[in-house]
Amino acid sequence: MTASSEIVVLTGGVSSERDISLITGKAVVSALKSCGYKVRTIDTRKSLDLVVRELSPPPFAVFNALHGRFGEDGVIQGLLELLQIPYTHSGVLASALAMDKPTAKKIFKSEGIRCAEHRIVDIQQILDSDVLPPPYVIKPVNEGSSFGVQIIKSTADLSQFKNEDWAFDKRIMVEKYIEGRELTVTVMGERALGVTELRPTKQFYDFNAKYIEGKTEHILPADLPNRVTEITQQYALTAHKTLGCRGITRADFRYDEKKPGASGVYLLELNTQPGLTPLSLVPEQAAHAGISFPELINWMVENASCGD
Ligand SMILES: Nc1ncnc2c1ncn2[C@@H]1O[C@H](COP(=O)(O)OP(=O)(O)O)[C@@H](O)[C@H]1O
Ligand SMILES: [Mg+2]
Repeated sequence: MTASSEIVVLTGGVSSERDISLITGKAVVSALKSCGYKVRTIDTRKSLDLVVRELSPPPFAVFNALHGRFGEDGVIQGLLELLQIPYTHSGVLASALAMDKPTAKKIFKSEGIRCAEHRIVDIQQILDSDVLPPPYVIKPVNEGSSFGVQIIKSTADLSQFKNEDWAFDKRIMVEKYIEGRELTVTVMGERALGVTELRPTKQFYDFNAKYIEGKTEHILPADLPNRVTEITQQYALTAHKTLGCRGITRADFRYDEKKPGASGVYLLELNTQPGLTPLSLVPEQAAHAGISFPELINWMVENASCGD
């Protein structure tokens, strides 16, 4: 692929993370242009028919800047496989596995990665009584950006949970709340780029803490015992490899420092389409590792593929 090749950036889409994808897309377009690529964008909210037509003639590669449903779960990847257009990030299977938190956790656990205990229940079971002893977290099985995540510190908090507000999958994950700190690791190919600690100024790392400047302090590199830094990065690499991911991924963790050694490190999830907005963690870790944003984006385009 040469820098004069045309790249199509897929952005927007129909998921709850549409607005974040538009910001990711904008940042990616400007980086690609600065590398000399010809760039076209397609908002995949359009009809499938139009999307397919706009992908013809096929570009050298598609940069997938989508997040969430249909963009991160293997669906758009399947379309690109059918059209035989190389695309960035993970393929069909890895994307689908990572997006479904219970399935991904089953695989992570089989590789010896510590994950929080959970149960999959329906809405009635949540309304009936505590599914786990509090504190616990109620979360959708296949969303992102903290959409739908609710922390139940005590049984009384359950009254906040409203049946009619639940707009997500019928399967609901109820997960043991892990006290402590919030960590994240970017994997780029075969390499973990470092560990960032996130300190939200209030409550937990919710949607606002993720996307509004100043709501969360990022500490990079995180100030952690060496063993914890090591295990966190090792878990991220193993998770990436085990699901068969490609390009970049970002693994989210909790770390309970009251537990000895690294036994308080828990992998929450692996994101196959992590945010690339100006406030996002992946570009920040890349910069810290000496990789500029355009270099990162260029690397991702060079690693685009299909049919493998
Ligand atoms: N088991 C848990 N213990 C403590 N905090 C949690 C737990 N699960 C989720 N959270 C909080 O909610 C945030 C979002 O959860 P996560 O599982 O990463 O879903 P999302 O895909 O929405 O990012 C986490 O970054 C963390 O702050
Ligand atoms: Mg997360």
